Amino acid sequence: MKQIMTLDVNGETHELIVEKDATLRDVLRDQVGLIGPKRGCDSGGCGCCTVHIDGKAVYSCLCYALSYDGAKILTADGLSSGASLHPIQQAFIDAGAVQCGYCTCGMMMSAKQLLDECPHPDEEQIRHGLSGNLCRCTGYTKIVEAIKLASERLAG
Ligand code: FES
Ligand code: FES
Repeated sequence: MKQIMTLDVNGETHELIVEKDATLRDVLRDQVGLIGPKRGCDSGGCGCCTVHIDGKAVYSCLCYALSYDGAKILTADGLSSGASLHPIQQAFIDAGAVQCGYCTCGMMMSAKQLLDECPHPDEEQIRHGLSGNLCRCTGYTKIVEAIKLASERLAG
């Protein structure tokens, strides 16, 4: 059974016809056409599907889309503004924190929540902030460096 719902995704309003059991991640990928929220474990164990709902980072694979009618969604696809990358995106590139890239969008969304709430995190706070996101490639050191760099740049 399908229902009509509305989502504000990265600043654009989308009216969508959604299956009752569709996850937010699948609606964002398959109906809105985004690539930021990835398909991974589908069980809340890897974080590659992380998006913000009304400013809070969540695993979109665990959310029924219809529960969020009218919500504001931010994905990694919406971090940049025009041709300019968000400081978090640029810092991931500059710190060499991207290898295969599969975890990166989810990592950046968790990093954004961390930096929104704690603009000057120390290493322990960064590692805690990323504890729900797995990376199979980098060993995390460069990701932590990227978030430190983003924090310095955002502070100006
Ligand atoms: S795909 Fe959502 S947490 Fe792994
Ligand atoms: S860069 Fe490959 S999983 Fe993180």
